[in-house]
Amino acid sequence: MIKINRGVFYTMDIKTCFMFMIGICTVLTSSCLISFPAYAIENDECMECHGDDTLMRNESEGMKEDLYIDYNRFKYSVHNINGITCVDCHSDIEELNYDNEVPHPTSLAMVDCDGCHEEQGEAYLNSVHKKAGGKGITIPCYACHGYHFVTHLQADSVFERENKFCLKCHNPNNFHEWLPQKETHFAFVECAVCHAPDSPRYISLRFYDLISRKFLETKDLLDALGTDYENFMDKLDKDRNGVINLPELEDMVLLLRQKDVRGTFHGELVVELLPTVHHINRGGANRECAQCHNPQSPFFEEVYISLKKDDGTALRQKVERRVLESYYVNHFYAISGTRVRYLDKIGLILIAGGFSVVIGHLFARIVTAPIRQKRKKKKDEFSI
Ligand code: HEC
Ligand code: HEC
Ligand code: HEC
Ligand code: HEC
Ligand code: HEC
Ligand code: HEC
Ligand code: HEC
Repeated sequence: MIKINRGVFYTMDIKTCFMFMIGICTVLTSSCLISFPAYAIENDECMECHGDDTLMRNESEGMKEDLYIDYNRFKYSVHNINGITCVDCHSDIEELNYDNEVPHPTSLAMVDCDGCHEEQGEAYLNSVHKKAGGKGITIPCYACHGYHFVTHLQADSVFERENKFCLKCHNPNNFHEWLPQKETHFAFVECAVCHAPDSPRYISLRFYDLISRKFLETKDLLDALGTDYENFMDKLDKDRNGVINLPELEDMVLLLRQKDVRGTFHGELVVELLPTVHHINRGGANRECAQCHNPQSPFFEEVYISLKKDDGTALRQKVERRVLESYYVNHFYAISGTRVRYLDKIGLILIAGGFSVVIGHLFARIVTAPIRQKRKKKKDEFSI
């Protein structure tokens, strides 16, 4: 280390001092360059090759593996938004050596999601999916989440959540024969609400527009109310207590009507995004109807309206529990109560769209997972 006696500066004139500082800077930077030749590899460098949509490689049995990454989608992934780069995940690429045909090892280690998501990794240990490993079925994190295009989940509807996850592998109509109105339940109750029972749940209210016959997107809702994210509560929360209460919700419906937007609020039962959502086990769910269909149900403790932002995160506004009794909200805790019949049809439409089972690529991955692991093991052996 270079030690500088502070006194030196006092005895130098400004110009000498300046030259001296430049000198120190030069010495420091050049020594930095010498001692740390490695630099952070930018995504652009990887995209030089992986941005080419014809980049493929031959796998066994005539299969081709696509090595192209759609950067326009990657750009909007939660990882890119949070500054995670290609080599943060593909961390065994330490440098690109262009003397070789492929500038990095061609058999890379499996990406370690748990390295950054420790709590979820631990929670996942206690689940039927992780334990399936004992039977030779490997279900890695990305079998559910995907990897290059992971997005935030908070603001997603039940429909979007289940399509992304459980419906890739399970068809719930094959089970649950004890459950009436399956379509309705699967459209409005997230699988994890029943199957990860130690996760806190809440009700997310969404506005269904009867004229366009669809749920209003946040942007359309805000436009119709003539407001934006920042001023939403200012506009609605007249008593400034930070909670939308029953009269305030009814005012909101009237404001929407003035803009010819007519409909009702619909409650979806979803889980809080906590690591415990991974605690899914055989026999873990409870088929007791009264846990939900009862006005005192703890499931209705928390009620929110979620406003989805462009980056996929949500601004969650608390709503008074009493709004569930409003004429404008579907009364699902009282089966025999007033019911709005068309909602069952919506359930059917939603679920019909939901069964486009995305198996192909995914199954190939699960099936090849053991091979990949073997490949990795082999590599580890070589490196010993
Ligand atoms: C000069 C072109 C080129 C560059 C630059 C490049 N790659 Fe590759 N990459 C390839 C080729 C070619 C393959 C297929 C190798 C093979 O034949 O198995 C490949 C394969 C891969 C694989 C699959 C490996 C496996 O184990 O299955 C990953 C992951 C990968 N690259 C990531 C990256 C990342 C991350 C970067 C940037 C740090 C990068 N590549 C930069 C050409 C490139
Ligand atoms: C969040 C972690 C993560 C990030 C960030 C990431 N990857 Fe990957 N990548 C994976 C996983 C997981 C796989 C598949 C399984 C494996 O190989 O472990 C994969 C597979 C690949 C493959 C093999 C082909 C395929 O699509 O399966 C290539 C090529 C690749 N990544 C390149 C890149 C490039 C280039 C970037 C940056 C633009 C990048 N990756 C960023 C996690 C990531
Ligand atoms: C069987 C499917 C499945 C597997 C496998 C899985 N997850 Fe999840 N994960 C979920 C579901 C479902 C949610 C909640 C999504 C929702 O409610 O919209 C979730 C939520 C998350 C979240 C956001 C919530 C939080 O705790 O912050 C993270 C991060 C996450 N998972 C990481 C992982 C990691 C890391 C692994 C591997 C150790 C993994 N997941 C394996 C299904 C899965
Ligand atoms: C290098 C560290 C790193 C790695 C490796 C990594 N992640 Fe992430 N992940 C992050 C960061 C940072 C965020 C954004 C912060 C946050 O919201 O929790 C994030 C966010 C997420 C989320 C969204 C959570 C939410 O709040 O909605 C999911 C799901 C997720 N990651 C899954 C994965 C999966 C699956 C893998 C493996 C393929 C993986 N991550 C690998 C750092 C990482
Ligand atoms: C990648 C495919 C895949 C995804 C995605 C998936 N599962 Fe599974 N799931 C399996 C497999 C395989 C088993 C069987 C494990 C075994 O036999 O031990 C299983 C078992 C189960 C079981 C135990 C009952 C049984 O038949 O063994 C439940 C409950 C379950 N999954 C619920 C869910 C839920 C809820 C989701 C969404 C969060 C989900 N699964 C996502 C593949 C998947
Ligand atoms: C109203 C609560 C509830 C909802 C919602 C629900 N399930 Fe179930 N499910 C149960 C109960 C209760 C069982 C039987 C006990 C058990 O295995 O946990 C069961 C059983 C299962 C089984 C295992 C069947 C077996 O042979 O053991 C799977 C797989 C499953 N559900 C997947 C799903 C998926 C996927 C979803 C979302 C589309 C879902 N469930 C939604 C309550 C529910
Ligand atoms: C996890 C909570 C939960 C459980 C457990 C549950 N339900 Fe439901 N049920 C709901 C929700 C939420 C709806 C959706 C109501 C709506 O908004 O359309 C619903 C809808 C219904 C409907 C349709 C109401 C109508 O008039 O169309 C019937 C019937 C019903 N449930 C009966 C049952 C029965 C019987 C059981 C027990 C075998 C049961 N539910 C278990 C939450 C639950």
